[in-house]
Amino acid sequence: MNSADHPAATLFSALDNLATGVVVVNPAGVVGYLNAAAESLLGVSGALLMGGESALLFERSPELLGALQSARASRETVTEHDMEITLPGHTPVRASCTLSYVEGSLEGWVLELRPVDAQLRIARHEQIRMQQEANRELLRNLAHEIKNPLGGIRGAAQLLERELPRESLKDYTQVIIKESDRLQSLMERLLTPRRLPHFSAVNIHEVLERVRSLLLAETPEGIIIQRDYDLSLPEIEADPEQLIQAALNIARNAVQAMHGQGKVIFRTRVARQMHLGSRRLKLAVRVDIVDNGPGIPEAIREQIFFPLVSGREGGSGLGLPLAQTLVAQNYGMIECESEPGNTVFSIYLPLQA
Ligand SMILES: Nc1ncnc2c1ncn2[C@@H]1O[C@H](COP(=O)(O)OP(=O)(O)OP(=O)(O)O)[C@@H](O)[C@H]1O
Ligand SMILES: [Mg+2]
Repeated sequence: MNSADHPAATLFSALDNLATGVVVVNPAGVVGYLNAAAESLLGVSGALLMGGESALLFERSPELLGALQSARASRETVTEHDMEITLPGHTPVRASCTLSYVEGSLEGWVLELRPVDAQLRIARHEQIRMQQEANRELLRNLAHEIKNPLGGIRGAAQLLERELPRESLKDYTQVIIKESDRLQSLMERLLTPRRLPHFSAVNIHEVLERVRSLLLAETPEGIIIQRDYDLSLPEIEADPEQLIQAALNIARNAVQAMHGQGKVIFRTRVARQMHLGSRRLKLAVRVDIVDNGPGIPEAIREQIFFPLVSGREGGSGLGLPLAQTLVAQNYGMIECESEPGNTVFSIYLPLQA
């Protein structure tokens, strides 16, 4: 059966907008409909499964067949949280499956499929976001507490310096003053008030071109910055200055990690059916900043978005947390995958809520 001539064609077209895979199986066990999310999860076209090849869905997936049989017998909803589904010639996928019996004109079973790793990712993002929020608050309080006495220490060192009997002793007061200044500026960066974003229509490639030219001005000659843009991407609603700052922090890290030799790629693509935190987006823009440097040191790989985590001499560990905050204020998210020779930071920004 073709979804276009099904009496519930409108309903089915609405189902195509879901991030959850939906498969409708008729009482004889024949697949009658597959939404877009199910097609992409299973890696098959609906036409294949809805035709004579319907049995393929159950043939090599005993767990799924078992669930269908028990749903058939009991006519009750069956949920399996982690099921393996194998289609001949495809890599098995793990999904959480719910099978429910539907009566009426659409009689049969509705199979809902949610990829297991997407669920884990949502939970992980939510947990990271909460941890980051708590950390930020803690650091702001701490920075506040440190800032005031620091002013006192610096002032006292200046007064002391004036009273010192010998010029050579001033080296010591200068150390106190300089180090206080360094700490002071770190505290100020931690306390930077959050500016609310000013949204406007933004061409993401203009943002990246700005970042590229800023970066080229400070980049050693041995580093190549390549572009791989999908120029068909529409404009997004965002704060361009905040996006420039976020992308610059990421790209600058890439350049710094490569010690004068290597390649950075700015890539843009469209991403579909994305989960950003607990929200779901039909369409998003994905900006990848890729480098072929040594990769993020393993010891800090999971913590790089936390403040003060740095694997770089002289680094303050504030670049990435700030980037993540800025992108989050624009309703987006940054993800990172890194191994030696291939580090990819992906910025996701909503195209359509
Ligand atoms: N592309 C990358 N390749 C290798 N390591 C990276 C890369 N990006 C980030 N890192 C690691 O993550 C750490 C944290 O980065 P972050 O930008 O938050 O702080 P920083 O660069 O150390 O200091 P700051 O940006 O505040 O000057 C870096 O110190 C570095 O060790
Ligand atoms: Mg940095």
